Amino acid sequence: VAEELNLRPARPGDLSAVRALLETAALPLDGLEDQFPAAYVVAVSEGRVVGAAGVETHGPDGLLRSVVVDSPLRGVGLGERLARDRIEWSRAQGLASLWLLTTTAAGFFPRLGFLPADRASAPALLRASREFTSACPASAACQRLPLAAG
Ligand SMILES: CC(C)(COP(=O)(O)OP(=O)(O)OC[C@H]1O[C@@H](n2cnc3c(N)ncnc32)[C@H](O)[C@@H]1OP(=O)(O)O)[C@@H](O)C(=O)NCCC(=O)NCCS
Repeated sequence: VAEELNLRPARPGDLSAVRALLETAALPLDGLEDQFPAAYVVAVSEGRVVGAAGVETHGPDGLLRSVVVDSPLRGVGLGERLARDRIEWSRAQGLASLWLLTTTAAGFFPRLGFLPADRASAPALLRASREFTSACPASAACQRLPLAAG
């Protein structure tokens, strides 16, 4: 891939492009607008949004969601950059831990430090989120990354 791939904070006008990426990847749209654009990052190539990732904050903890890369650009490290950006954002926000649910990419997140977790042990505020209650099936893998020191 010759052209530059830059990350930048999401803007209100990115919503439709992010929605289209999620739709194409068959990822949940539920709740996308709740914390958009403040909690989202996008990857841009030649002015076009080609990737995204977001963190829903629920009390002291976060939910990493909507990690997506346009399929022609997968496999060059962009997904990892987007996810690492949100991990650093979550640390800067002072979140205690970051959780995720995934049916499609359980093998992707352990390289970033995520460990398998029991969905039922997630904090109550996270379990009340739309991803936990309706968007992600019970069969989804649940993973957790502790962020707070000690
Ligand atoms: C998952 C996704 C974001 C990864 O983005 P990407 O830019 O292709 O990832 P990277 O190039 O950073 O890949 C890094 C590594 O992850 C691996 N990987 C990529 N997607 C994977 C997946 N779905 N499952 C397991 N491993 C995966 C790659 O093989 C690569 O491994 P390597 O370094 O050993 O070769 C991208 O495949 C995608 O958009 N998938 C569809 C949406 C999705 O399932 N998102 C997760 C929802 S929570």
